[in-house]
Amino acid sequence: MNEAQLETEAEAPEEAAAVSTEESEAAGRKLDAQKAGARVGLTSDEIIINGGRPLKGRIEVRGAKNLATKAMVAALLGKTPSVLRNVPNISDVRVVAGLLALHGVLITRGEQGGEWRLDPSNVEVAHQADIDAHAGSSRIPILFCGPLLHRLGEAFIPDLGGCRIGDRPIDFHLDALRNFGAVIEKLPSGISLTAPDGLKGANIELPYPSVGATEQVLLTAVLAEGQTELRNAAIEPEIVDLICILQKMGAIISMEPNRVIFIEGVPELRGYDHRAIFDRNEAASWAAAALATKGDVFVGGVEQEEMMTFLNVFRKVGGDFDVHDDGIRFWHPGGALKPVTIETDVHPGFMTDWQQPLVVALTQAEGQSTIHETVYENRFGFTDALVKMGADIVVYKEGLHDATRRVKRREFEQAAVITGPTPLHGADIEVPDLRGGFSHLIAALTAEGQSKVTNLGIISRGYENFIEKLHLLGADFVYES
Ligand code: EPZ
Repeated sequence: MNEAQLETEAEAPEEAAAVSTEESEAAGRKLDAQKAGARVGLTSDEIIINGGRPLKGRIEVRGAKNLATKAMVAALLGKTPSVLRNVPNISDVRVVAGLLALHGVLITRGEQGGEWRLDPSNVEVAHQADIDAHAGSSRIPILFCGPLLHRLGEAFIPDLGGCRIGDRPIDFHLDALRNFGAVIEKLPSGISLTAPDGLKGANIELPYPSVGATEQVLLTAVLAEGQTELRNAAIEPEIVDLICILQKMGAIISMEPNRVIFIEGVPELRGYDHRAIFDRNEAASWAAAALATKGDVFVGGVEQEEMMTFLNVFRKVGGDFDVHDDGIRFWHPGGALKPVTIETDVHPGFMTDWQQPLVVALTQAEGQSTIHETVYENRFGFTDALVKMGADIVVYKEGLHDATRRVKRREFEQAAVITGPTPLHGADIEVPDLRGGFSHLIAALTAEGQSKVTNLGIISRGYENFIEKLHLLGADFVYES
């Protein structure tokens, strides 16, 4: 099995077939922009944005990056093929597809956009050198541990990648895997795992409700012999969607009160047919872009329930929204935006991934906003570029004490204090990480004058067709693909 068996995004015929009038108009504008891009000699990793123009129009979001990639790994556990629908065309999905292909999973694209069929009938051990080629490209490979141990009795996981937003250890994952009976050897280029006595159900309490470690336990426990009790589990909507997928495959999983999940191991699982939950991080990003640019954006494919916490904050800041059956319209109703204090938290709290895009809108609010970042230890690096563009943001690396706070203080947290409103002006800025990068795009769209944003490739890890979406929303920019 090799990567040739993976039909690439570029070859997929259905993408071209399902193009609406709006999309083809956007494609025309894209061509103009490309020609202009050629004239100024941009690379495909750069964009020039003429800001100060409200984003207006409708765009669609597809399945969540943080579910689709894990659902693809879950397909390894089935005896029969799985079908995943609503899969976004982003590079993190392609990285996982490449790794699955290396392990013998046959992947084909269906007739409808975003439909992937994953056939794990011939799962096999991959060459370490081939796996190594994926080192540093994503964090998802760590989730291959349990499924590969079940299927092959061994696994090699390369060094992980993902956004550089502080130290991102995997100790919870490794402790949980050892509890199931895995033997782990650390190698210079990754980790090697075996399970000489098979994998057995375990009692596990996570030190923190980690999304990845919860997924690790789920993907390992479903085929482990006996029962697993997981305490202090993450309960993000993407985790619940993964549990739904595993249940479709034949797993027995119950979600109990107080972050407890029980899993009864079963001897085998079948494939699933599932439509991935929408990407709430992408939805919040476009909503923040609408607010910051004083625009009006209908984000199709979005549902209210998973967005409730974000919607409350959006309203408190002064944004307005309307919930429809097929999406949510977000707009700036005029008047001054208001400052807020936010603590990022695990679900159902305010997601860490939402803070970066929102910070740009907060630079336009009247007064002082504070963001306590409690999930990651270094997620304010992106604010340097905003300060360069005229924002007043002070980052407190040790965090700030606040008597009124709700979320328990974490050892390594930081805080950012944003004082507004400050007009933003164009600048040359470089994308540092996925969400920070999108916030740079929003800042460039909000700023008066021209900005050049470089290192755009990172944004493609999690935002599908964002250049086309900018066209659809009437942004003024030059880009050469
Ligand atoms: C997932 O990361 C998401 N990534 C992140 O999205 C998201 O920000 C995060 O969950 C929180 O919602 C994917 O789903 C691919 P964690 P994950 O384990 O699973 C510490 C984006 O922009 N920790 O919940 O890696 C860790 O350092 C990304 O889409 C340990 O200490 O997050 C962090 O402080 C970025 N040891 C906290 O827990 C461990 O073994 C939460 O991490 C694991 C985690």
